[in-house]
Amino acid sequence: MPINLFEYEESAKKHLSQMAFDYYSSGAWDELTLRDNRAAFERVKLQPRVLVDVSDRNLSTSILGQSLQSPLLTAPMAFQCLAHEEGEIATARAANKAGVGMILSTMSTKSIEEVATQGNYSDINSSSNNSSSNNSNNTPRWFQLYIHKDRDLTINLVKRAYAAGYNALCLTVDAPVLGQRERDRRNEFTLPAGLNLANLASISDLEIPTEHGESGLLLYFAQQLDPAITWEDLAWLRSLSPLPLIVKGILRGDDARRAVEYGAKAIVVSNHGGRQLDGAIASFDALPEIIAAIDSQVPVLVDGGIRRGVDILKALALGASGVLIGRPILWGLAVGGEAGVTHVLEILRNELSVAMALCGCSRIQDIDLSLVG
Ligand SMILES: Cc1cc2nc3c(=O)[nH]c(=O)nc-3n(C[C@H](O)[C@H](O)[C@H](O)COP(=O)(O)O)c2cc1C
Repeated sequence: MPINLFEYEESAKKHLSQMAFDYYSSGAWDELTLRDNRAAFERVKLQPRVLVDVSDRNLSTSILGQSLQSPLLTAPMAFQCLAHEEGEIATARAANKAGVGMILSTMSTKSIEEVATQGNYSDINSSSNNSSSNNSNNTPRWFQLYIHKDRDLTINLVKRAYAAGYNALCLTVDAPVLGQRERDRRNEFTLPAGLNLANLASISDLEIPTEHGESGLLLYFAQQLDPAITWEDLAWLRSLSPLPLIVKGILRGDDARRAVEYGAKAIVVSNHGGRQLDGAIASFDALPEIIAAIDSQVPVLVDGGIRRGVDILKALALGASGVLIGRPILWGLAVGGEAGVTHVLEILRNELSVAMALCGCSRIQDIDLSLVG
């Protein structure tokens, strides 16, 4: 049984085809940003506070009024059925059990409705007062949106997410075109028979194309997604449903401010796990500029390279309200389905709890900038 997230990755490799492992683990071009996301956390050192009573620790928090039992959400990631047949449904159940958030990708292999039904979203969003339950009410269940050239298709996705009980819309803005992942190109990445774009199949015949010498996903993006979207489109998007809008993929203070001006209710500082612009700043390194620019107007989340509970503490110390966890969720899925994801989330929770104790923090609110040396 793996005891940390790095061991989960090693173990997952044995459960996955080369094509699936490469698709999950790779970054764009030379993978500089992929590696730097990790190195950025390793560069930052802590100055712990001592002789504080940390016998009773509370990791719970909230974002946009939605409650979390620890400050993390599973990142939107496409094609989770490549890791396990239950795919996004297993992730949703594990997130429920852990009381953490989940963001479902537009490019999921289980549909918006299947994940909501099997993940009990109606229970989560109901006004149950059972605070002893892990599935306490109103946990983040966000739908990640890619705007397709076909606007009717996009409208349909938003309306379906709202109808199914998702409680926010997360627009990804760092992918006007797909980053060039050379491992996918070499593997001519495509979905194996039996898997499809579950949210799009019922609307049209969209599928991942195959072409000699190219990644099918890259072709799909080029054909279907709209590289012309601008800030002006956010008003249109907000008009489609009452869901709060979160903008994911910001790396600059001025863009963060603009997102808030255009109505974003939260920001995710992200370089897409190093999969888009190689050479982009590590998301953790971009965090201070964005925290300063936002000046507490909206919550700021961050993702990319978070592999230890102490990384979460560092992100919170710099001012993040929470973090998204990407690839480790896929490693958990590949190794053990729902139980694997549950274990990955438990490892992170336990590590964060220990890191908090060692820094003299008994509550999430105690984690502050003074801890970062
Ligand atoms: C296999 C894979 C698929 C992804 N698919 C999406 C996606 O569909 N939409 C999106 O906004 N981000 C997607 N991402 C980016 C993640 O949401 C997240 O930003 C990133 O994985 C965080 O970095 P980490 O994997 O180092 O934790 C994907 C990432 C991976 C690894």
